[in-house]
Amino acid sequence: MKKVLVTGGTGYIGSHTVVELQQKGFEVLIVDNLSNSNIEVLDNIAKITGTKPYFENFDLSSEALTADFFSRHHDLAGIVHFAAFKAVGESMQKPLSYYRNNIQSLINIMDNMKKYEIRNLVFSSSCTVYGQPDVLPVTESAPIKKAWSPYGNTKQMCEEIIEFTSNATAINAIALRYFNPIGAHASALIGELPLGVPNNLIPFITQTAIGKRECLSVFGDDYDTPDGTAVRDYLHVVDLAKAHVVAINRLAGEKNKKKMEIFNLGTGNGYSVLQVIEAFERINNVKLNYKIVARRPGDIEKVWADTSFANEELGWKAEIGLDEMMRTAWIWEKHLAGKA
Ligand code: UD1
Repeated sequence: MKKVLVTGGTGYIGSHTVVELQQKGFEVLIVDNLSNSNIEVLDNIAKITGTKPYFENFDLSSEALTADFFSRHHDLAGIVHFAAFKAVGESMQKPLSYYRNNIQSLINIMDNMKKYEIRNLVFSSSCTVYGQPDVLPVTESAPIKKAWSPYGNTKQMCEEIIEFTSNATAINAIALRYFNPIGAHASALIGELPLGVPNNLIPFITQTAIGKRECLSVFGDDYDTPDGTAVRDYLHVVDLAKAHVVAINRLAGEKNKKKMEIFNLGTGNGYSVLQVIEAFERINNVKLNYKIVARRPGDIEKVWADTSFANEELGWKAEIGLDEMMRTAWIWEKHLAGKA
C-alpha cells in the first residue's frame, strides 16, 4: 500500500482529502498541531472509511520535531501539504506568525524530502495569488499580482520556494490553486469547523440560519457584477479533495510534464453572494436574515477559474453543483448543532 503524509489532515480540506486517499487505497499518515481542528476528526474519518489514520500532533514549523518525524517515517509515496494558517484578516494583524508558520513548515518539509529522497509534493495554494485578475476566467498563466495580505503573500512565496527547490532537487511538485471550497462530506461526519465568528461566507450563512448569528452582512452591492454583489467560484470540498488524489497519482506515476505544475481548481462558474443566498434558501427551504452593508476592505470584485488545464491535463472536473454545496453545508451545520 502506498503511504502518503497529509499535513493539516484534521483540517477542513485535509480531512476530506484523507478520506478520498484512503478510499483509493492509500495508507495515510497525518501530522497536525490541532491549532484549528479537532482530534475527534480522526474517529469521524474512521467512521467513513473504516480506517483511523496514523496521527502525530506537532508543529511542522519546528525544525527538530519535523526532523524527528521524518527520521521515523520516510518511506512515503508523497506528501500533501495543507498545514498552514489561512485567515486573511488575522494575517494582517499577525504577519510574522503567518510568515513563520507557513514558510518555515514548508522549508522543514522540503529539507526532509531532499534528505530522504521523498519525491512528490502536492501543495495547497489559492486563487488569492492572482489578486483581482485583469482577464476572466483566470488561467494559470495570469500574472501574480502584489499580495493584499500576508496570508496571500505566503502562498505566493511558498509556490516560489517549491519551484526553485524542485528545479534544484529530485522533488516534483504540483501546486493546486483553490478557488472557494465549501460544503461538507455527504455523511455529515466531517466539514468546516470555524473557530469563533466565521470570516467566510458559507459558515456565516449556516450559523445565521441555525440562529447562532443574528444577521448575515452582505459586503457591498455596488460592485460591477450583474446584481452588484461580489462573485466567486465556489466548489465542493469533496470535488476538491479528489483532485489531490489525482495529483498524487500523477506524480507517483511520473506523469507530470514539468518539475512543478500548477492547476486552478474551481468549477469555472462565478456566483454572486446573492445567488449563493438564493440557492441556500431554496434548496434548504430556510429563510435567511441578511442585510447589505459596506464592502469589506481587501475583497476583490469578481474571480472565477478557467479550469480547462485541470480538466484536460489532470482529467479532473468538479461535478457537484451549487445546490448540493448548499445542501451539504446546511446538513453539516445542523449536525454540529445536534439537529440533524
Ligand atoms: C478569501 C481569500 C482566499 C482564502 C479564503 C479562506 C482572497 C481574495 N481570498 O476568500 O484566498 O483561501 O478567504 O479564508 O483573499 N461575504 C459576505 N459576508 C460575509 C462573508 C463573506 O458578503 O459575512 C462575501 C465576501 O465579500 C466575498 C464572498 O462572500 O465576496 C466570499 O467571501 P469568503 O468566503 O470570505 O471568501 P474570499 O474572501 O473569497
